Amino acid sequence: MTEVQEIEQQKQYIQKVAKLNENKNLTYHILTFGCQLNENDSEKICGMLEQMGYTQTDKIEEASLAIFNTCCVRENAEERLFGKIGELKNLKEKNHLIIAIGGCMMQEEHILEKLKKSFSYVDIIFGTHTLHKLPEDLFKVLETQKKVKDVIDIDGNVYEDLPIKRNSKIQGSVTIMYGCNNFCSYCIVPYVRGRERSRKPKDILNEVEELASQGYKEIMLLGQNVNSYLRSEMEAIKQGTLKDEAGDYKEINSFAKLLRAINQIEGIERIRFVSPHPKDFTDDVIEAIRDCKKVCKFVHLPLQSGSTNMLKVMNRKYTKEQYLNLVEKMKAQIPNIKFSTDIIVGFAGETEEDFEDTLDVVRKVGFEQVFMFIYSRRVGTPGDKMPNQIPEEIKHERFNRLKQLVESQIAENNQSYLGTKQKVLVEGPSKNNEKMLTGRTESNKVVVFEGARSLVGSMVEVKMVEDHLWYFKGE
Ligand code: SAH
Ligand code: SF4
Ligand code: F3S
Repeated sequence: MTEVQEIEQQKQYIQKVAKLNENKNLTYHILTFGCQLNENDSEKICGMLEQMGYTQTDKIEEASLAIFNTCCVRENAEERLFGKIGELKNLKEKNHLIIAIGGCMMQEEHILEKLKKSFSYVDIIFGTHTLHKLPEDLFKVLETQKKVKDVIDIDGNVYEDLPIKRNSKIQGSVTIMYGCNNFCSYCIVPYVRGRERSRKPKDILNEVEELASQGYKEIMLLGQNVNSYLRSEMEAIKQGTLKDEAGDYKEINSFAKLLRAINQIEGIERIRFVSPHPKDFTDDVIEAIRDCKKVCKFVHLPLQSGSTNMLKVMNRKYTKEQYLNLVEKMKAQIPNIKFSTDIIVGFAGETEEDFEDTLDVVRKVGFEQVFMFIYSRRVGTPGDKMPNQIPEEIKHERFNRLKQLVESQIAENNQSYLGTKQKVLVEGPSKNNEKMLTGRTESNKVVVFEGARSLVGSMVEVKMVEDHLWYFKGE
């Protein structure tokens, strides 16, 4: 069966489940762990469920279906999940709750073992390659009351045309590629998400155009390594294993060209993307960011470590100097460009000197935002087998030092915003104060300000008047 036929088949299952659920007013509760790709997957899960006659509820006690979309990038996500499944046991008995668990964690053998042993009451287990089969899996459970485990370990396919229920009406996430080929030595993602594969440019452009026609203003392009978009496909064409008979890749054959094409779409005002890999940040991408008015001059550029030694052990394929040179090059070519990053502290073998290198890069670049992580050993990765693991207390001590540096830098950097006028995309009422509006600057700073509700969804000029470290008050 082709991917198109598989989706056709799932649409029939959607109809079948909808029929079973008719006039029952059923609800579902979904909880998503992990990254924005997982959030986007969950939007598709919700899209399918709504078509099957379920409506979403925040109250798990009332739901007839509970879905957890899991992440395994660090240990704490796993622990939270097991706690949550444990809590469902009573509800399962009381409400005949159907429990479905999917996502990255389900691609791990030891997790499946643990579920089988300790949580055998889970009804559906699905993985990252079988998300689109949720209608079929759910139908089987409803019909037979049997448990379904639907996990496969493959390189992966690309499925189009799944229903979607989006979390925002202003900012739309668009996954442009799946999987990862980089195998950074600390990271589990390539093992659970399969190999790199990209969506066709026309499918992405159609989705963005559709979003624009629905009034969306900001597009977030998603992938584990967005600037290797279409790389595998281009290599396959070169080797003759893929034939581009339909001319899908004739005009757009790279990430830079995709950015330029999306930049042309009317109605969209901002384009962001996560995550690019520093080793693949080619000049054409830098030029596209520079030339495209809608592409934010704000780039998330994961550093992981500032030490060339550690970067080598991490299999990141760039040095401290190459990273700094890339930042300098971008600063020279793109006026006012700003950066955010991800950093891991305490990876195997990290010395005090290595850690000092990380602090050094942080001082030199001056990031707008730093996502900091304590290294978490992942079963099956090379990092887990390295002998020279760092003791927990040293990891924490380094984490705190990095945090202090980052916070003092951000506090200082925030001063440079005060008094300036920034373009802010208004997202909605502020969570803490319904009377205020909240939005973000191009550099992703949160701004809270007074204004009419009618401004939601538009771009407004806001004067930055007060700095509160993680957000600004504006006028
Ligand atoms: N593909 C993206 C993001 C992957 S996961 C990238 O390469 O940047 C998001 C972040 O989680 C990573 O950037 C990394 O900083 C962090 N991370 C990944 N594996 C980790 C681990 N084992 N322990 C701690 N942090 C980890
Ligand atoms: Fe993980 Fe590295 Fe791939 Fe990012 S690029 S998902 S950190 S292996
Ligand atoms: Fe987690 Fe999977 Fe994303 S492991 S970070 S949800 S790709």
